[in-house]
Amino acid sequence: MDNRDGYIWVNGEMVNWRDAKVHPLTHGLHYASSVFEGERAYNGKIFKSKEHSQRLLDSAKILDFDIPYSIDELEKAKYEVMKANNLKNCYIRPFAFLGCEMGLQGTGVPVNTVISAWEWGAYFGGDKMKGLNFNIAEYRRPDPKTAPSKAKAAGLYMICTISKNKATSEGYDDSLMLDYRGYISEATAANIFFFMKDGKLHTPKPDCFLNGITRQTVIQLAKKVGIDVVERHIELDELKNVVECFVTGTAAEVMPVRQIDNKYKFTPGKLCEKMINEYDKAVGKI
Ligand SMILES: Cc1ncc(COP(=O)(O)O)c(C=O)c1O
Repeated sequence: MDNRDGYIWVNGEMVNWRDAKVHPLTHGLHYASSVFEGERAYNGKIFKSKEHSQRLLDSAKILDFDIPYSIDELEKAKYEVMKANNLKNCYIRPFAFLGCEMGLQGTGVPVNTVISAWEWGAYFGGDKMKGLNFNIAEYRRPDPKTAPSKAKAAGLYMICTISKNKATSEGYDDSLMLDYRGYISEATAANIFFFMKDGKLHTPKPDCFLNGITRQTVIQLAKKVGIDVVERHIELDELKNVVECFVTGTAAEVMPVRQIDNKYKFTPGKLCEKMINEYDKAVGKI
């Protein structure tokens, strides 16, 4: 990603893409004092931009540092980055991390704020309606008393990267992660939904993982079209009652799943199609 044309917004300045560097002795790199967002713009408009900026500020607060920019300043900067890179349909990655200092103590360490953007097509690629194939991750989402699970913080992605690597090396697309209690939680970078035999849309209660902005959007959209949504703890064995399944995320958008753990199989059909369609309309894609 370092050798590209373009510009990255670094602490208020537009920097040439190739000149945007960090020193190796950066707190964020050593101790994961780093938070980030993933956003998408469709036809020049960033979907739920302010909600993402708010989450970025909140994530930093949870990690005990303050980002020195307001929501409006971040808003302006994101659009400046898009303009500088001549982008209208793109992925945007704002992030903030503690700068050059060693030793665990984070207070007093300078905060860096960076915004980059680039064209990024379908996160899972390929034919949507074929659906994804998931294994079950060995790692579990931690107890909120063990890790700051409400923050979109780099440190929480360590187990996601390991799980994703293992899944893809074994021929799966991604992993379904359970939580510390053994309930179904989410995929490595997306929330999960199940249309069950009762005709309702069920999704895990986000009490120890990210309550995704796409997840919240899809819940509203489903309710709007008359689908009952149930947020609750879901056991793995309940997958035998699933008719259709999909995951949601800014990068993944709405993406059907066809198999979990080699034994739970679903055929992506009309219900997934409906939610894809509603989401694509909401973000301004169609
Ligand atoms: C771990 C995790 N869960 C869920 C999501 C979905 O969040 P959102 O819909 O806000 O993009 C993401 C997206 O980045 C994620 O990384």
